[in-house]
Amino acid sequence: MIIEVRELERRYARRDVHALRGVSFDVEAGQRFGIVGESGSGKSTLVRLLAALDKPTAGTVSFQGRRIDNLPERKLGFLRSELQIVFQDPMGSLDPRMRVLDIVSEPLGRREPDRVAELLAAVGLPSDAAQRYPHQFSGGQRQRISIARALAPNPSVLIADEPVSALDVSVRGQILDLLASLVDQFALTLIFVSHDLGVVRHVCDRVAVMRRGEIVELGDVDQVYDAPRHEYTRELLAAAPNLRAELARLSGGDDG
Ligand SMILES: Nc1ncnc2c1ncn2[C@@H]1O[C@H](COP(=O)(O)OP(=O)(O)O)[C@@H](O)[C@H]1O
Ligand SMILES: [Mg+2]
Repeated sequence: MIIEVRELERRYARRDVHALRGVSFDVEAGQRFGIVGESGSGKSTLVRLLAALDKPTAGTVSFQGRRIDNLPERKLGFLRSELQIVFQDPMGSLDPRMRVLDIVSEPLGRREPDRVAELLAAVGLPSDAAQRYPHQFSGGQRQRISIARALAPNPSVLIADEPVSALDVSVRGQILDLLASLVDQFALTLIFVSHDLGVVRHVCDRVAVMRRGEIVELGDVDQVYDAPRHEYTRELLAAAPNLRAELARLSGGDDG
C-alpha cells in the first residue's frame, strides 16, 4: 500500500468547520484514485493532509508504510520529492517573474537545462519554452508547465487537485489525456481530485465519493458509476445528465 489513511479528522477551530470526519482509505501503488465531491466537501483539505502540508486534528496518514502526519518539516524531505501536486490554477501556482527553466528546475534545487528540456518534451512543449515566462503561454500550456515541474523530482505519486477546472473546456480533454499518458509512462500512482464526475470516470480506476467531510462511497469506478450503493452518489449522478455527452466529448476532444 503506498498510502494509508485512517480515521482522519480536520477541524478548523477558528471558523468552527469540521472539514473531514472519519476518513479512511488505502491507495495501492499504480492506482488512479479519484476523489469526487461538491465544492466544500473537504477534497483540498484531504489533499493537504496527504501531502503533509497540514496536520490532522486526529487520525493518521502513512506513506510507503511510514507515518507522515506527525513528522516535522525537516523529516519530510523524502515526501517532498516522492509526492507532488498539480493545482487548479496554473497562473496562481507559477511565479510570473521566473523563467520556465527556473520554475521547472525549482524542485531539483538547482538549474538543470537538460532535465528541463526532457520534461518540456514529455509534456508537449517546445524546447524554447524554457526561456519564456508564464504569461507568454495559454492556460493549457501553463498547466503543462506545472505538470513538468511536478514530474521534475521523479515522484512516485502525483496528486492533481482539480487540474482542469480552471481551463477552457476545449483544452480539458488534452490535459487529461496528457496526465493519463504520463501516469503510464512514468508508472505513477495518481490521486485525482474533481467535483466533476465525468472527468473522474475518464481518468480513474477507483473512486471515493465525498460529502460534507466524509467518504460516503468507495469502490471501483465501474461499480460506483453503474451501480451506486449510496443515495448521495445516485443524486450526484442524476444531477449530471450530460455525463454521457461529456465523456464522449472528453474522449474526442482536442485543440491547443
Ligand atoms: N484554511 C481553512 N480555514 C478554515 N476553513 C477552511 C480552510 N480550508 C477549508 N476550509 C473549509 O473547509 C471546508 C472544506 O473545504 P475544502 O477542503 O477546500 O473543500 P473542497 O476542496 O472539496 O472544495 C469548507 O467548508 C471550507 O470553507
Ligand atoms: Mg478544492
